[in-house]
Amino acid sequence: MSSHESSYEPKSRAEKWLDERLPAVRLMHGQFVAFPTPRNLNYLWTFGGILFLCLAVQLVTGIVLAMHYQPSAAEAFNSVEQIRRDVNYGWLIRNWHAVGASMFFVAVYIHIFRGLYYGSYKAPREILWILGVFIFLAMMATAFMGYALVWGQMSFWGVTVITNLFSSLDEIWAGLGTAIVEWLWGGYSVTGTTLNRFFSFHYLLPFVIVGLVILHVWALHVVGQNNPTGVEIKTKSDSLPMYPYAVTKDAFGMFAFLVLFAWFAFFLPDYLGHPDNYTEANPLVTPPHIVPEWYFLPFYAILRAVPSKLGGVIAMFSAVLVLLFVPWLDTSRVKSAKYRPIYKWFFWLLVFSCVMLGWLGSKPATEEYVLWARIFTLYYFLHFIVVMPVLGLVETPNVLPRSITEAVLGSGGAAAAGTHAPEKR
Ligand code: HEM
Repeated sequence: MSSHESSYEPKSRAEKWLDERLPAVRLMHGQFVAFPTPRNLNYLWTFGGILFLCLAVQLVTGIVLAMHYQPSAAEAFNSVEQIRRDVNYGWLIRNWHAVGASMFFVAVYIHIFRGLYYGSYKAPREILWILGVFIFLAMMATAFMGYALVWGQMSFWGVTVITNLFSSLDEIWAGLGTAIVEWLWGGYSVTGTTLNRFFSFHYLLPFVIVGLVILHVWALHVVGQNNPTGVEIKTKSDSLPMYPYAVTKDAFGMFAFLVLFAWFAFFLPDYLGHPDNYTEANPLVTPPHIVPEWYFLPFYAILRAVPSKLGGVIAMFSAVLVLLFVPWLDTSRVKSAKYRPIYKWFFWLLVFSCVMLGWLGSKPATEEYVLWARIFTLYYFLHFIVVMPVLGLVETPNVLPRSITEAVLGSGGAAAAGTHAPEKR
């Protein structure tokens, strides 16, 4: 993607000196100042920036927390309490980190569903999307291990239940699952050894996420941003330089998101957590109802919807992995669901199914709840495997605007801007 005005001119002698040796400022200028962004982006496109903000908050607060946290079974729970009560501003840092995990998932779910609605995964953005799915997987692993570190009842039993799932691989190859579980645990049950290795990985993975995000943004800047029409940039009047337009909009989006973030961090820091996690881990007492954090609930519902343990594990992992194939499962000629009168309804049915699965995941696994979880799990997979490929072939999309400029200014305005490039849909 070429720059809007790749007109970086070093102003001082020092800038010129640096530019001739390491043109880092020139690179940043081309990619984040002059970079052409579609002129019709809505606020859903600010969530990439918001995700950056979330990642930064988690890294900064996490590094400070690690200075005071003790990753041992004897001290972990109390060290978290001590951070909240005795460490200077420890309450602030811990609240922002714990609430931050939830906020990160709020933002990432909006970001993913935005992509699904506007077809941002379609060619030429397949690699960008796949990198996103890898980021999502890394985020899930990081959050899962981070939750364990609190060493409360829900941490302990959550780790026990989820790591135990791997034992279902014994059904494929006797002894394989048990070996994996014992290897993960570093022993024959969840102990301080498990906690210690989770701490190590919980510190490592965010940096892996940083690396993946760099690749993600690189891929984005090669192909350029999609936009609500799904029609690519054709002429200069379809785009605006990233600075000040998209940057200002992103900054406003981030600020609005921070208000929500701060509201939870300052007024409801424990609202999104489970009360049982304020009791120290006790291997001898199983909580009556083991549930993960809210952002894993839809996957937990899918896990429990399948009668066999191995089947549940496969379904749960497939629910994420199916996203990798979405660029090829969607056969529609147009990207944006805005111009797909039938698909639009199915998209909202998918959103509804995910919300329902989330709710069902929080309920006990009784007959009626499991039945509904099965129905919504079935739709979840049907959406990707049947609706996307079939509807893309049979649906007649609405007429697309000829250009982004036409979508914004109408055909009169676009003609005045002289942008009616030859039609290509
Ligand atoms: C730490 C997590 C992530 C960060 C920091 C991040 C960052 C960004 C940024 C800055 C953009 C450009 C602005 C925008 O379109 O909102 C973007 C676009 C995009 N992201 Fe992400 N992202 C993350 C996770 C994901 C995930 C999990 C997926 C999908 C599974 C994904 C898929 C995409 C796609 C398809 C685009 C292009 C959107 C378009 O141009 O229409 N991202 N991302």
